Amino acid sequence: MSPQRRRDAKYNDEEFSSRLRASVVKCCISTILSALLAGLFLFSCGKKYQDKEFELNIPPGFSQPNIPNDNPLTEKKVELGQLLFFDPILSDDSTISCASCHVPELAFTDGRKLPLGIKGNLGNRNSPSLVNVAYYPYFFAEGKVNNLETQALAPGLHSSEMGTEMRKMIYRLRNNSFYSKKFKDVFGEEVDVKHFVYVLACYERTLIACNNRYAEFIGNLNATGVFSEEEIDGYNLFVENDCDECHTGSLMTDFSFQNIGLYEWYDDPGLARATDLPGDSGKFKTPTLLNVEYTAPYMHDGSLASLEEVVEFYNSGGKAHKNKSEFIKPLNLTDIEKKSLVSFLKTLTDDDLKNKNGIFKKPTLKYN
Ligand code: HEC
Ligand code: HEC
Repeated sequence: MSPQRRRDAKYNDEEFSSRLRASVVKCCISTILSALLAGLFLFSCGKKYQDKEFELNIPPGFSQPNIPNDNPLTEKKVELGQLLFFDPILSDDSTISCASCHVPELAFTDGRKLPLGIKGNLGNRNSPSLVNVAYYPYFFAEGKVNNLETQALAPGLHSSEMGTEMRKMIYRLRNNSFYSKKFKDVFGEEVDVKHFVYVLACYERTLIACNNRYAEFIGNLNATGVFSEEEIDGYNLFVENDCDECHTGSLMTDFSFQNIGLYEWYDDPGLARATDLPGDSGKFKTPTLLNVEYTAPYMHDGSLASLEEVVEFYNSGGKAHKNKSEFIKPLNLTDIEKKSLVSFLKTLTDDDLKNKNGIFKKPTLKYN
């Protein structure tokens, strides 16, 4: 008998569970809203600095991400943000760009255990994917930053990442005739910190890749042939072994902080780094599993090299830690079951990443 979906995955994400039903209405409302917002922005910018709304490529059934009212998505801002994202001008010695650690073809991770910053400095956390950050409620492993505009301040300042003081960065951009002109064209004034973070945030919000076979499988009860038998088995194992207690919803994360017993003693205190609470030690943000096929190595410190190693880890039930989640326990999976689970994880890949469609490409920089 061919395998069937035995139970539905948990999802806390209303959009996702009722995606087909709601999508049409949502699309209309959000299109009207964003058109209004863009109109407002264009109006407030006056005639001279006109810019067009940037249309996000949202797959059917997914909601529009929240865009802050003071930083609407426009074509020129996205373009400028993209140029900066790929430009080493942002690092102190002009060797590292955002894209050095967030490489488009690797779902905006870097394929390294720990990232390499300026002057060969090693970072202390694995570079996370930036795909779908438009939907994130907060940023960083401790979640203490809640919008992309503020987040964009961090890498430049971080000594092990780009190591440039903000005033130096702005000075540089003002004295670069290409960027100085571009910023004036978009904002009608000299570049400052706010404009800088606005354009980076705009570009990052366009990095959407959530169109995958899992979404198709979950969204349509009657769909047949979306998954292979092995993938259906993997899905059932994912649900039956409580993976979906934390990896849930359209992004396959509930954004909760969890200790999964990766270590008995953590070098990196995780959430406790921000809160100083012993009960938060070793808790990290539950990461999205979308495009996880491309984001190896895994975990906050890149300590697990492959999806096979991740599954092996969960199968072991993790190390004893007083904060470990009750959902992490030995699973006793057979080799075939482990393989099915890995196959299922690969259904979370958006093929647009493979096709490297427009927006994920490195722009050709042209000064002057
Ligand atoms: C040297 C490597 C490196 C560079 C360069 C770098 N990043 Fe990162 N980025 C990281 C690491 C590591 C983290 C995770 C930090 C943490 O959780 O404490 C991160 C986190 C982020 C996050 C939050 C993601 C999440 O899941 O919460 C965003 C957004 C981001 N970076 C954008 C940028 C932008 C924009 C630039 C360029 C201005 C940039 N990064 C440059 C390594 C880098
Ligand atoms: C209690 C919540 C919880 C449960 C249950 C859980 N996970 Fe996780 N998962 C996490 C957290 C938190 C991390 C990140 C840990 C870290 O960075 O140290 C993670 C990381 C991962 C990663 C690595 C992602 C990356 O980009 O580094 C994969 C893959 C994964 N989990 C798959 C699974 C599978 C498969 C199961 C079920 C066998 C499962 N998870 C069960 C919370 C959970």
